[in-house]
Amino acid sequence: MKFRIARRTLLAAALSLPALAAVAAPLVLGFSQVGAESEWRSANTASIKAAAKEAGVTLKFADAQQKQENQVKAIRSYIAQKVDVIAFSPVVESGWDTVLKEAKAAGIPVILTDRAVKVADPSLYVSFIGSDFVEEGRRAGRWLLERAAKTPNASLNIVELQGTVGSAPALDRKKGFEEVIKGNPKLQIIRSQSGEFTRAKGKEVMEAFLKARDKKIDVLYAHNDDMAIGAIQAIEEAGLKPGVDIAIVSIDGVRGAFEAMKAGKLNVTVECNPLLGPQLMQLARDVAAKKPVEKRITVNEGVFPAEVAAKELPNRKY
Ligand code: AHR
Repeated sequence: MKFRIARRTLLAAALSLPALAAVAAPLVLGFSQVGAESEWRSANTASIKAAAKEAGVTLKFADAQQKQENQVKAIRSYIAQKVDVIAFSPVVESGWDTVLKEAKAAGIPVILTDRAVKVADPSLYVSFIGSDFVEEGRRAGRWLLERAAKTPNASLNIVELQGTVGSAPALDRKKGFEEVIKGNPKLQIIRSQSGEFTRAKGKEVMEAFLKARDKKIDVLYAHNDDMAIGAIQAIEEAGLKPGVDIAIVSIDGVRGAFEAMKAGKLNVTVECNPLLGPQLMQLARDVAAKKPVEKRITVNEGVFPAEVAAKELPNRKY
């Protein structure tokens, strides 16, 4: 009798195991990262990996090495693996409609992080969490306007190091900056080229700007700190003082930029927060649970001029 009850209990437990497993199964998140092109990107990746671990989310992570085709492959593989949610930081803005339609047809919700996409049907993604890049460009422009106002008669020739061609931060940071300086005859962009968001390319392009110096260069506007740091090297190798002979405005607010500001080689960095991991995990959980979420979640950020670098450096988290 006792044996029969025990058998029945065991049988019932075994039958309910799949149901239990389904309830307790961790959320599976497929994430396609742009690459490892900058200090910012490394901090972003570290934040996502740490937050997934902390939240008990099973993270499938792929580094696309700045190539859209690698991201498309990764997304297709996440669809094939039937993950619960797909998130990705798109290297460029366009060309996502087909693969996102495939994810939608498979019933897998997609979250964009850091960079936005241009798609005909906005329902192809559920939410976007990231910075306002246009506003970052405006902030960089406003800092320069204030500086120009302090040097009344001088006109300032600007060279611009753009980010990856076709990427949201490159397009938007250019747009925001130009919007603010437009109409000020003292401020002129004399050269503009992509430095692909990397130190090596930032240095290479700055070298070319300096060689072709038909006009005096007064200001460098770099779409990220890594390119600014590469350019600082080029400026020093050309026998000039970065931050003094050429004022440098950049974006991200990574530790390397604060060190450069402390050393007087960079004048200002506009913050772009890469620590999106914890918010992404919460968002992925909400999306998987079919809770209503905001279509656009922006992050709060500041502007840090060289004057505050020494005080702020110990507080920096990336
Ligand atoms: O998309 C964010 C940008 O990408 C960061 O500003 C840059 O450093 C990174 O590579």
